[in-house]
Amino acid sequence: MTEQPAAPTSTGDAVVPPGSPGLENLLTEERRFPPSPEFAAQANATPDAYAWANADRPGFWADQARELVSWSTPFTQTLDWSDAPFVRWFADGRLNAAYNAVDRHVEAGHGDRVALHFEGEGGDTRTLTYADLQREVSKAANAFAALGVGTGDRVAIYLPLIPEAVITMLACARIGAPHSVVFGGFSAEALSSRILDAEATLVVTADGGFRRGKPSALKPAVDEALAKGAPSVSHVMVVRRTGQPVDWTDGRDVWWHEAVDAASATHAPVDVEAEHPLFILYTSGTTGKPKGIFHTTGGYLTQAAYTHLNVFDLKPETDVYWCTADVGWITGHTYVVYGPLLNGATQVIYEGTPDTPHRGRWWEIVQKYGVTILYTAPTAIRTCMKWGAEIPEQFDLSSLRVLGSVGEPINPEAWMWYRRVIGGDRTPIVDTWWQTETGAIMISPLPGVTETKPGSAQVPLPGIAADVVDDDAQPVPNGGGGYLVLTEPWPSMLRGIWGDPDRYKDTYWSRFRNIYFAGDGAKKDDDGDIWLLGRVDDVMNVSGHRLSTTEIESALVSHPWVAEAAVVGATDETTGQAVVAFVILRGDVAEGHAADAATVQETLRTHVAKEIGPIAKPRQILVVAELPKTRSGKIMRRLLRDVAEHRQVGDATTLADSSVMDLIAQGLATPAAASQD
Ligand code: WTA
Repeated sequence: MTEQPAAPTSTGDAVVPPGSPGLENLLTEERRFPPSPEFAAQANATPDAYAWANADRPGFWADQARELVSWSTPFTQTLDWSDAPFVRWFADGRLNAAYNAVDRHVEAGHGDRVALHFEGEGGDTRTLTYADLQREVSKAANAFAALGVGTGDRVAIYLPLIPEAVITMLACARIGAPHSVVFGGFSAEALSSRILDAEATLVVTADGGFRRGKPSALKPAVDEALAKGAPSVSHVMVVRRTGQPVDWTDGRDVWWHEAVDAASATHAPVDVEAEHPLFILYTSGTTGKPKGIFHTTGGYLTQAAYTHLNVFDLKPETDVYWCTADVGWITGHTYVVYGPLLNGATQVIYEGTPDTPHRGRWWEIVQKYGVTILYTAPTAIRTCMKWGAEIPEQFDLSSLRVLGSVGEPINPEAWMWYRRVIGGDRTPIVDTWWQTETGAIMISPLPGVTETKPGSAQVPLPGIAADVVDDDAQPVPNGGGGYLVLTEPWPSMLRGIWGDPDRYKDTYWSRFRNIYFAGDGAKKDDDGDIWLLGRVDDVMNVSGHRLSTTEIESALVSHPWVAEAAVVGATDETTGQAVVAFVILRGDVAEGHAADAATVQETLRTHVAKEIGPIAKPRQILVVAELPKTRSGKIMRRLLRDVAEHRQVGDATTLADSSVMDLIAQGLATPAAASQD
């Protein structure tokens, strides 16, 4: 199956997508925040890094790879782009990711340094030093190996954000078994397709996790996923977290506390080639089938470590770093697990939601651990803004010295609030643009170097070549808008889509020749700084989570009531975008009395949660009689987005039947009629 990035604009679709709250005035943004002299004097990043990297980009990365990563066999080759778009970095070097993240810090005398301050939702805590982590990871690696997991085998991980999630990822890396973490909020259905695609041999899960003050089960979803058939899976390892009862399959299921606790605490990390796959992470694309993005070891670790050190100005001896992402997303992979641990950081991980048991929970955690660097998503910042400044103001946040943002465009007002209320008007903010595919941060200010502008990710990092181009791949002038592209390979670049090299080429490299097309729209301001404007394809961004319109449409039409569905991402003040679905019901259902509007909404929302996960639930489902289509049958989502955002409907002249939009608008104006359409 292949997918094409959204074709450019013959229908008059704007290159710049909707969404991006508050960005319409971006080119008139005048506020500037130069680094303070004190910060600049102590910063890890220096302005000369750009020139150094520009002079010899591969050489710059080779220097970083030697400096920040330990190799059991040093590499002599740096970049191999001869088989573009398939890339190899540091290919003749050998190393182990878990050794780099854990053991070498213990060997360097830092075994007593705290690696993880774990805070459970219910307030239970655990502290793991680097020495503890070395022991735990070694035990888990031995236990996995005893279950037959070997180098190259895939392990699916379906866990809450508890220390075992980090330990499991590192134990896999230690064996050279690529991990595939599936976010705990995904359904059994989603889990099943990911297990099947990766042909995982082991699944690591928990009885459950704590969510909004209650235990929330995970093991039943694994049982359900495996009941659909998963011939590759031989074992399921289960962490006891909540103590809730679980069904047990003898011979297949194994308790973590039995297998891991009994295992030896010494394990020799397996040396792998630099290009050995470290992990697969599934993400939404423009088709219904999620893509297994895979990353390899040497290049990924190099860029993870470099960016974490420089973008967050990490000082491993003194900083307390906290990235609020779950390990189910790329941000959790690179900036909870590999980046911070490679750099020997002390960090906080928190299992729960920001408002359990109260809306000051995050700020209480910052105060309790003296967090110095905080990395979170705009949607969280906007939610806290809505709750009010008086909540964070009750806590001592003076330890904070760098604030980061990721996952979606941050609107200038949220940026200003973050800086003022959370950062005490003192901290630099780094708005970091990157993707699951890029593996690590690509565009971001450097604290202590860059004069920041609220709302802009600004400049490609040293060693990264990004541009904004028009339909013909020509760079747009300052002040112009177009497509964000990456014009040179980078170390933590995805190496492909698991099992589907053609789809990799089609998705990222076919829109512009030999240039990586990111799927985002962007503008350059008068200084040439980059402003991200959201996706230009059929990918939505809800609370910083990537969702595919097609995937949700497929989920909707798999329900017996639904004949046809179209999904759009409508601007939402808090979540950036929200899922809005338009459905045509099957004739018999539409005529029946059972399906009133509320029942349809509820039934279909529950169905989407079951098929994909609660994060994909539409905010709104509108029952319509027709969908707007071009003569070639393509749904014109642009028009539906106008409806969903209560705008004047745009140019509908290319519709096969231009009266459709009137019908839809009329149907919406009379809500009672909606269900009988
Ligand atoms: C969006 C998350 C604007 C973008 C790391 C990208 C952003 C998608 C930013 C990738 C940012 C991420 N400003 N947009 N700072 N960071 N995005 O794969 O649309 O979950 O293509 O990776 O999120 O989402 P993903």
